[in-house]
This record gives sequence, structure tokens and C-alpha cells, in this order.
Amino acid sequence: GKVGVLFGGRSAEREISIMSGTGVLNALKSKGVDAHAFDPAERSFGELAAEKFDRVFIALHGRFGEDGSLQGALEQLGIPYTGSGVMASSIAMDKIFTKKIWLSHGLITPKYAVLTPETELRLVPDDLGLPLIVKPPHEGSTIGITKVNGYSEMNDAYTLAAQFDDEVLAEEFITGRELTVTILGTGAQARALPIIEIVAPQGNYDYQNKYFTNDTKYLCPAPLDIALTAEIQDMAVEAYRALNCEGWARVDVLLRASDSKPFLIEINTSPGMTGHSLVPMAARATGMSYEDLCLEILKTARL
Ligand code: DAL
Ligand code: MG
Repeated sequence: GKVGVLFGGRSAEREISIMSGTGVLNALKSKGVDAHAFDPAERSFGELAAEKFDRVFIALHGRFGEDGSLQGALEQLGIPYTGSGVMASSIAMDKIFTKKIWLSHGLITPKYAVLTPETELRLVPDDLGLPLIVKPPHEGSTIGITKVNGYSEMNDAYTLAAQFDDEVLAEEFITGRELTVTILGTGAQARALPIIEIVAPQGNYDYQNKYFTNDTKYLCPAPLDIALTAEIQDMAVEAYRALNCEGWARVDVLLRASDSKPFLIEINTSPGMTGHSLVPMAARATGMSYEDLCLEILKTARL
């Protein structure tokens, strides 16, 4: 039947979503799927209903696409969609709530504090140490994030993150290796693909290095011993199941240098599918082409 590929959208990650969605649309078409683009930023839900899609592939990132609100609209319209449902999408979009769920499952994530306009910012480093990370809890692609090296930088870091969110997340800085784990499947079928290690120039895997430069190195599978690989993959699957994620997602992990202890950072329920993106890279390492990956994700579409 007719498939809608939803991309574009109204979030700060619109530019990335257009790259992801264009890739997915072309891949599905090349496999003979009757796929059509639909940008919810430009067209109404009435028009979405009128398209009579049998299913939709969500290639939106961030607010109004990845955060459960669109998923709720699709539920109301009765259109099966890829990826997580309303609740898992909303929780995963909120890095603070995600941590609370993970901690309640005994999963390891960096120490944190929630910053509000009332917080005595200069006291935060006393709890979390320095450097520390300040970020808006509802953004992706490292938007609004600062690494704070001293007390004097707290104010600017807070002000930047607060442009995106009412509450701001401050996190203990984990010095170590940056890893990501793709999960495919739902419930008991959920499985981890090979781990990717990201080696960014000066350890700075920011918006520019994520999508627009070729200076970042990716090691896939990550050079980790078998036991540690299995531990991190299991942890990522548990992190996914703890939120009741469905279909697919990508779990970001930091491996602390001092003791090789893995920390869960966040989970992306509608991860990037651009030419630079990590989920397609992990799939390729298992022999799965970008096109087959798109078909596999599309198959998981449900209500
Ligand atoms: N938020 C970006 C798209 C990602 O996690 O891949
Ligand atoms: Mg993210």
C-alpha cells in the first residue's frame, strides 16, 4: 500500500530531518515501495488523513515528531507508524525523565541536577564536579549543549540551554570513549547491532562534526573486548526495554576511561538516517544495506 515518509517538521533539527527523510524516501522507492514525502510543518493533519497512507515512516527528529505528540495524532487518525509509541517517545525526548526511569531500573547514567531560574548556579559544580555538561533536556543533535570548565561559565551555559527549555539539565562529565548502540525490534525481539565508537576531532562531536565534516572517525564494531561488548549491548537493550521503546532506536553511551564503566546518556527514538548517521553504519556492519534497513524499520510500523 501507500507509504508516507514524514520529514521536515518544526524542530531545531529540521535540517537534519530533511536529510534523513530524503534518504529514506529514495531508499524505499528504490525497493519498489509506493512512498511519498509528507512534511507536517507544511501540511495539516487533515491533509495527512486525506493522503490515506497505509503506514508512515517517521523520519522527523526532535519536538513535534519524535516526542510523542505526532505519534498521538497518528493514533487518533488510525495510521500505523514506525518506532516507539506515545509514552516511550515522550519520555525518551526528555533526558531528565529518561534518567529517572533508568535509575529506577538500576541502570547507570551520569549524576545530574535539574536547573531552574531559582537554582544557585555557582553551587552546581560542588555536586557534579568540573567539568560538567549543561544541556536542554528536549533537544537533539547536541543543540544548546555546553561543556562547563569553571564556575564562571555556568551562567552562559544555563542561559543558552534555557533558550530551548524551561528546565535545564546539568550532568557530571564522563571522561572516556563515546559509543552508540543501535537497537532493532520490539520487546523480546529487540536486539543490539554492533557498537560504534565515535572518535571526534578534539573529542568534540558537535552539530558540525555530526553532519557536515568528515573529520570524525567511526570504528564499527568498536574495538572492545567480547565481554565488555556484550555488557554494553545488554545494557542498551535494557535501557530500550525500560522505556517500552518499539521498532528501533539508538542508545548513546559513554565508557569511562578510568574504570571502563559504561554510562547511559540518552536514547533517540527517531535517530538520524543521513549519509553521516550511525544507525545505517551499524546496519552495514551486519551486511544490511541502507535500503534493507529502511524496509526492516518500515515493517515494524504499527498502531
Ligand atoms: N537527534 C539525531 C537526529 C540523532 O540522534 O541521530
Ligand atoms: Mg539525541
